[in-house]
Amino acid sequence: MIKKGIILAGGLGSRMSPITKSVNKQLLPIYDKPLIFYPLSILMLAGIRDILIIVNKGQVEQFRKVLKNGENFGIKIQYKEQKNPNGLPEAFIIGEKFINNNNVALILGDNFFYAQSLTKSLQKANKLKNGAKVFLHPVKNPKLYGIATIKDKKITDLKEKPTKTKSNLAVTGLYFFDKKVVSLSKTLRPSKRKELEIIDLLNKYRKKNKLSAEFLGRGGAWLDAGSIDDYYDTTSFVSAVE
Ligand code: TTP
Repeated sequence: MIKKGIILAGGLGSRMSPITKSVNKQLLPIYDKPLIFYPLSILMLAGIRDILIIVNKGQVEQFRKVLKNGENFGIKIQYKEQKNPNGLPEAFIIGEKFINNNNVALILGDNFFYAQSLTKSLQKANKLKNGAKVFLHPVKNPKLYGIATIKDKKITDLKEKPTKTKSNLAVTGLYFFDKKVVSLSKTLRPSKRKELEIIDLLNKYRKKNKLSAEFLGRGGAWLDAGSIDDYYDTTSFVSAVE
């Protein structure tokens, strides 16, 4: 079982500017709790108790005020800074010491998941020993996401924002990796948008036939609270559920 998890909670938050000029997006409220509580609870539901939160330069204290060292939630939380938003796989380079040659889960700080059988699928995913596992969820506009094509739960194709695709299965911001993830992340080169790309990292696993898929299931919801509209959709979803 994977024991370690990383929450990547930095980023520019430019789509939510000027709100995000002084406050990190992940500390803004979704209904009655800071956004970061939701990805944190997903890791906890998966059975992960040892957590590293990666934040922007100079923001550790803001997060520490809210979450402290995790003791009050019965978990252990550490913090590290990412100097610039150089891409998601940088989490594994920044977190190398924390990962300490173990398998690890990664969740994005602005991702919100809800599903009836979520605990079950999270615990299943967390049994990963070798390879990598992603959570997929159908979306209306595949051109905006990383999209996977699958056959027998194995991912056969993976493309970032494809112009043409028969699949509508988006790669969500929740990933489970074996311990090779650190060395593989180090082999990545920045893309045209000057970031290390999670799709490139996942493709390294896929090419070895080691990338599998899990699903939120029927009635499941995945929201990324990154734009103002999605942020408010997430808030109304939570307020309706609560
Ligand atoms: P993005 O949505 O790619 O970026 P962002 O949140 O900075 O927003 P914007 O596009 O409006 O500028 O990031 C997804 C999540 O991952 C978000 O929670 C921030 C986090 N992130 C980092 O912490 N470091 C990074 O290098 C990147 C690319 C993202």
